[in-house]
Amino acid sequence: MVRLLIVCLGNICRSPIAHGVLRERIAARGLDSRVSVDSCGTSSYHNGEQADPNTRRVAARRGVDIEWHRSRQLLDSDFYEFEVLIAMDGSNEADIRDRLPPNSDVVIRRYMEFVPGAPGPDMPDPYYGGASGFERVQDFVEAGADPLIDWALTLAADGSS
Ligand code: 4NP
Repeated sequence: MVRLLIVCLGNICRSPIAHGVLRERIAARGLDSRVSVDSCGTSSYHNGEQADPNTRRVAARRGVDIEWHRSRQLLDSDFYEFEVLIAMDGSNEADIRDRLPPNSDVVIRRYMEFVPGAPGPDMPDPYYGGASGFERVQDFVEAGADPLIDWALTLAADGSS
């Protein structure tokens, strides 16, 4: 089993969309016994909250259910309980690496590495912008979901997890 943890800052905009899309793609591909997904934020700013209203609106319009989602902060135990942490941007990755325990085997990657034709390494943060930013995030997330799952399956095949 390869356990993926998607990490952004607040766990109310970018990572909940990815969590919802990946969860549904994994189930649709019959891969629930081989790949799992969770999400969190590096901050505790929105602990216990549902996703941002724009995130929920865009996801619902695309047919992805994220109403169940509640924000949570990255935990020390996550570095041992997940095989892969996927950061949404460089700032998230730096925060993750600051907390990385020396004896953790976790693999750290960025979501945009899996988005074909991505315009850059960072998933744009839509929090301070308008609704179109959330549509853009959802587009990137959908484009990267199957490539990310395919890559996760290669980790499982390696026997490295
Ligand atoms: P997210 O977006 O990291 O994609 O969930 C943000 C959510 C909250 C804040 C910033 C970004 N904030 O500053 O509260």
